[in-house]
Amino acid sequence: MKPVILDVDTGIDDALAIAYALNSPELEIIGLTTCFGNGPIENTTRNTLLVLEQLGKKVPVYSGADKPLNRPAKKFPTHVHGEDGLGNTVKKAPLMEAESEGAVAYIINQVKQRPHEMTIIAVGPLTNIALAVKKEPGIVSLVKEVVIMGGAVFTGGNTTPFSEANVFADPEAAECVFSSGLSVTVVGLDVTMQTLLPNAILADWRARDREESHFFADMTSFYMQAYETFHPGIGGCALHDPLAVGVVIDPSFVKKEKWNVKVVLEGEETGRTVALAEGEPKIQVCRQVEADRFLNHFLSRLF
Ligand code: BDR
Ligand code: CA
Repeated sequence: MKPVILDVDTGIDDALAIAYALNSPELEIIGLTTCFGNGPIENTTRNTLLVLEQLGKKVPVYSGADKPLNRPAKKFPTHVHGEDGLGNTVKKAPLMEAESEGAVAYIINQVKQRPHEMTIIAVGPLTNIALAVKKEPGIVSLVKEVVIMGGAVFTGGNTTPFSEANVFADPEAAECVFSSGLSVTVVGLDVTMQTLLPNAILADWRARDREESHFFADMTSFYMQAYETFHPGIGGCALHDPLAVGVVIDPSFVKKEKWNVKVVLEGEETGRTVALAEGEPKIQVCRQVEADRFLNHFLSRLF
């Protein structure tokens, strides 16, 4: 079992990623850390607790960054994830609470306690990871691996024509993480736009006699409608965050290449992730994915 911290900005595809990760015996999810992103930090933390409650899992949750490193927060993507971040399905407050320790302190402490063991899967803005590295640069050599959902290295963006949402939400944090020397794998739109969950799956989830499959069907329906609006005829929604989890479970789902990835920090291309052959450090960029094999694996684990 790989010990993992899952950093989320829950979000509908984050919720699916949490379920996939917690139902996968290859991973030991020791804690969930939260970041602003798909909503304000209060909502992303609440949503994370609600997803855990629905799954019947007790995993500690540590609340993290409420804004980008050094720019004001942008508008939250309510058109993709709903006003509440879970497709307008939230009807109650969670029973559990987040821990008193903050996400950044938790990440630093766990990495130090388990040198060269911890994998961090980060599927929101990279603010918590950047803050941890800035506060305690010594953790860079102690983290085993950071797998992130973010970036659009050889393809267009989804928030602007150039930028993917997680990088756009905090470009300086992404630049900090990519240039830090951490062992980073980028699971970007290059591959996640190929791993589509077909619309037809909802009928199957709704036919199941389980509360959690209805919980996920309701929110995913909202997400699928957003995908149809922005990509008419696409027939499904992208499994962005679940693919980052999948790559940690089974790295053979993807083919990677090493590039020096820089983030554009100014102008109309802000948030663009640019791959350079020259310069260091090189990080792993996913270029190809076995989409069907991944989708079947994800579906076999979700419930
Ligand atoms: C990413 O942005 C968020 O909206 C999703 O949860 C995912 O992490 C996709 O660009
Ligand atoms: Ca996310």
